[in-house]
Amino acid sequence: MSDRVSVLFVCLGNICRSPMAEALLRHHAHATGHEGVHIDSAGVGGWHAGESPDSRMVATAKKNGVVVEGSARKITAADLNAFDLILCSDTEILDQVRSLGNGSARIELMLDYHPELSGENVPDPYYGGGDGFIHVFEILNESCRGLLDKIRRS
Ligand code: 4NP
Repeated sequence: MSDRVSVLFVCLGNICRSPMAEALLRHHAHATGHEGVHIDSAGVGGWHAGESPDSRMVATAKKNGVVVEGSARKITAADLNAFDLILCSDTEILDQVRSLGNGSARIELMLDYHPELSGENVPDPYYGGGDGFIHVFEILNESCRGLLDKIRRS
């Protein structure tokens, strides 16, 4: 994986998990001088398109010094060729992304770069309480650090 890799994070609504992962990878990339990494996020659903990230997720990130920005958008088939790596929140989302067609992007799970949770799904925090957002922040934080380590070593 080169330092100029492009990464798209995908979840259901693009207001909780994928903007959090996008913000965390950007945060760690800036902190370690990897400015060449291109990072974006999208949802398989378009219900929240144009909306800001979920305020509970933004608040959880802010408490930990991470800024979550941007507005939600729906993934398109063109994204499958526009990015090197597409990281999905869970296996259902991964199947839906694959069903959009064939492309050059490698499609994996967000937690595949976590030291202990490779192959696992990121739980959907949307209908739960605040603890769910903290848990999602923590596991995505570890996985984004793992991904950046891999980029750094390659
Ligand atoms: P996300 O969370 O996929 O992590 O952005 C959700 C956002 C919205 C809904 C479900 C999950 N929803 O049902 O509207």
